[in-house]
Amino acid sequence: MRLGILGSGSGSNMQAILDAIEDGTLDAEIVLVLSDNPGAFILDRATSNGIPAGIIDCQGFKSKFPDEVQADTARRLLEAGVDIVCLAGFMRLVKRPLLDVFPGRILNIHPSLLPDFPGIDAWKQALAAGATEAGCTVHYVDEGMDTGPVICQARVPVFPDDTPESLHARIQIEEHRLYPVAITLVADAL
Ligand code: GRF
Repeated sequence: MRLGILGSGSGSNMQAILDAIEDGTLDAEIVLVLSDNPGAFILDRATSNGIPAGIIDCQGFKSKFPDEVQADTARRLLEAGVDIVCLAGFMRLVKRPLLDVFPGRILNIHPSLLPDFPGIDAWKQALAAGATEAGCTVHYVDEGMDTGPVICQARVPVFPDDTPESLHARIQIEEHRLYPVAITLVADAL
């Protein structure tokens, strides 16, 4: 399974996927990492591991992912022979130009038990709502924000003295375990 990863930030999920490949628990290869943020650490992680990496130039738009840029991103992923696209902290909404090229093959990880708390800073939303349980979800991507069909989830407790940082850290431990499992599930179903 040839994976393409899109991320905007630290890339700890990409690292977890890479670690799972290296320890033999995930039968896959990361063939391309792309980021809309030229300063993102995910790009450093990719290059220091010898993985081809590149920038998605969103033409100065802060959050928009222009259609023609999505089409070009799809072309780059196809050229790299990508089978499954993993969004890992990618902060732009993917739409038809990319979805149509990889039907049922684009996944996202989100730090909540969807459908609860879609959108940004989901762990802060969970704390503000007084949730006693939180977690993470890997789901297929559709045109909505964190709305596609759920593939799998992992749960964590919320403690009374949790801060946003402590809760997010607990969720991320589960994210790193869950994403490789989800990729295997999807690959086996293709
Ligand atoms: C994760 O919490 C993920 O659930 C969310 O963005 C964060 C990305 O973290 N979508 P990282 O870049 O993988 O470290």
